[in-house]
Amino acid sequence: MHHRHTSFIDLGRLVSDDPSVHDQDFRFTGADVRWFFSPLGYLGLSAALAGAGERRSWALTSDDRGTVASDAGLPAPIVNAPESFSRDTTRVFSAANSGVSPVENPEDDSRGVQAVRIQGRRFTTPLGDLELARSRDGFWFSLKLPRDAAVYGLGEKTGGLDKRGRTWVMWNSDDPEHMPGTDPLYQSIPVAYLVTPEKTVTLFVDSPATIYIDVGEADPDRIQFEVYDERFELYWAEDDSLPAAVERYTRLTGRTPLPPEWALGFQQCRYSYFPATRVREVAERMRAAEIPCDVLYLDIHYMDGYRVFTWDAERFPDPKDLTQVLRRDGFRLVTILDPGVKRDPSYPVYAQGLAGDRFLKQADGTVYTGRVWPGEAVFPDFFTGVDRQWWAEHHRALFDAGVAGIWNDMNEPADFSGDELNRRDFTVPDSLISKNDGTPRPIGVLHNAYASGMNEATRAAFTRFRPEERGFILTRAGYAGIQRHAAVWTGDNYSWWEHLALLVPMLANLGLSGVAFAGGDAGGFQQNADGELYVRWIAAASLMPFFRSHSALDSSDHEPWSFGEEVLSIARRSIGLRYRLLPYLYTLFEEASRTGAPVLRPLVWEYPDDPRVRNRSDSFLLGSALLVAPIRERGVQERSVYLPAGRWYDFHTGAAIDSPAAGSAHLAAAPLDTLPLYLRGGSILPFESLRQHTGEAGDGVLRLLVAPDTAGSARGTVYADAGEGFAYRDGEYLRLDARLDPTGIIELVVVNGTDHIRWRELELIRVVPHEEGVLAIAPTVRRELPRTTGERITLEL
Ligand code: GLC
Repeated sequence: MHHRHTSFIDLGRLVSDDPSVHDQDFRFTGADVRWFFSPLGYLGLSAALAGAGERRSWALTSDDRGTVASDAGLPAPIVNAPESFSRDTTRVFSAANSGVSPVENPEDDSRGVQAVRIQGRRFTTPLGDLELARSRDGFWFSLKLPRDAAVYGLGEKTGGLDKRGRTWVMWNSDDPEHMPGTDPLYQSIPVAYLVTPEKTVTLFVDSPATIYIDVGEADPDRIQFEVYDERFELYWAEDDSLPAAVERYTRLTGRTPLPPEWALGFQQCRYSYFPATRVREVAERMRAAEIPCDVLYLDIHYMDGYRVFTWDAERFPDPKDLTQVLRRDGFRLVTILDPGVKRDPSYPVYAQGLAGDRFLKQADGTVYTGRVWPGEAVFPDFFTGVDRQWWAEHHRALFDAGVAGIWNDMNEPADFSGDELNRRDFTVPDSLISKNDGTPRPIGVLHNAYASGMNEATRAAFTRFRPEERGFILTRAGYAGIQRHAAVWTGDNYSWWEHLALLVPMLANLGLSGVAFAGGDAGGFQQNADGELYVRWIAAASLMPFFRSHSALDSSDHEPWSFGEEVLSIARRSIGLRYRLLPYLYTLFEEASRTGAPVLRPLVWEYPDDPRVRNRSDSFLLGSALLVAPIRERGVQERSVYLPAGRWYDFHTGAAIDSPAAGSAHLAAAPLDTLPLYLRGGSILPFESLRQHTGEAGDGVLRLLVAPDTAGSARGTVYADAGEGFAYRDGEYLRLDARLDPTGIIELVVVNGTDHIRWRELELIRVVPHEEGVLAIAPTVRRELPRTTGERITLEL
């Protein structure tokens, strides 16, 4: 009998489908050890050590398949063959064959080989101390958690940067009333990085079922996992640093593709803008108020009775005209979509879906009906390829109207017919059955990947209808690898200072968990922001990767002009700063697409040896050059900002601050119009003239702000391309490296050149104290922008 390994099947979709991935990472160059046992069902573990020069990688595979022929030879590597990674596996051995191969690894001298207890049996693993047991609903296992290890990752979680001391749950949940400590929320990304000064151990449990992760709560020396399924994989890897670990993890699960430049602009949303004339009003007001903005959203009221892929004919009589008018003024329109399809026999999406067997069913074979915005609703089976394709086709109704991006909401999936008090049940019943591409499984063990399937379908829709565009998708729920398809927003926060503060550790860990393109509703979604909260939030969010303002149906308006003149003019400056820094932000997104490095980084990313930043999330780094210290409390006019060792420049005055080797706290002035912001000595920061939207040409000048370190050196890089489309993949992009040496000579190297960029000139500016702020300093050098591959220029600065 040939069973398929479901979590493997899901993995094929959820995790990178690039075959080269498997050759480069998690490579098992010699299958040095394996051991197998059968406590109740059958479980096989196979472990191996990577070859010389590589760190060790290891995977655990389980399957409830029963006896499988034993393999006298070495088992095939688990993950370096795409089909074994994503499809069937034969690495399950009968208990009769169980036994432990000796570990032979000359590199394995530090920790040695320790025994493992598996329900009374002892096994030896290259990991050392692993305990594993069958639990009621799946498997439990635990590993040693070094006392000095900080634990990062786990995706979208409340709490601090370091996830120690609590048990976290992986179970995508719609919690519209979530508190600053609520767990779980919308996303489940079961990756944990155990970071000590010596190394980073990555643990990735690939299962979309419920997973409890006890990070040193019950026992401070253990990290414990309970997976509510019999089938899952555990990936283990050891790296020298957190960046190396994130690079590896994102090589496995995929990276955030380079977004269109417009998606990095300011985005304005509301539940809901309607009718069409209201949307145009908001657009006109943005331009009149000189608030740079690229995107407006339509929330659920644009649909005909909340029927997905339809338009309300009265509110939006001519959607195509609307998108065209908006587009002429530099706005893109993004529309919301929910998975719930209204149960209405006269509605074609429902009728066709029913006829085509597209919806999740109950065990008795009848289609399940839940309740969402449209009332009674049914849920597409996003685990099945033909159903995803079917869903993708329906996007024609939106793309034909000129919609530029898709906002996938409620995709945990939320189901109001569940038990509202018990949020775990605020979704479809676990017992529903997915066809799961031919291997039916209960939805309960696939749950966390429901949104991934929906977003994959949306990606397919872009490929189908907008093949020339990079596409923009925003999602609420997701699982490991979601970054390949969509940007993530953190759901229904409140207009609370606590939720503004929470965003920093939450986005930092999302970034480490592979999701570089993320943000929270600026100004807060639920309840009403006041001008002070709004303006502080906008200042912080304008330097976060995804930047969108939103507010709930019954909340007051959260537009930049909603709080009076003073707030409007401060918001204008904050948003304007983001636009001036777009060359930098875009460069960071290109880096994320290539290496997985987050755009928003916790300080520990850059300063791993500084014990004062290991759990610090009162500030963050945008890339490596900017330190952002948001104001997160009412009434505050100054705050302490921790500056790690080295030179920093106050971004608003250019004043240099030298922080000693041990780092230092600095008291920053923060009147309402000032976000404490620091430029790191040693960096070269690209920026440009202010534009009102990314479709504007600007003044054609790329500017480089050169901020020397204490030794007088600095370096930086700029990546730029057409901002949309795929010509960059054929070499149509600019990569310019700049390096200042202590003698004051700056060298520019065009690593790759193109003419398809908006700048013709280059200005070099050396940072000096200036009361108007560092971006106002007069240029030191202005010349034609070098843009021919290989061009190399040296100048005196
Ligand atoms: C959900 C979303 C929110 C949206 C609302 C109405 O609560 O999280 O962003 O505005 O649904 O569609």
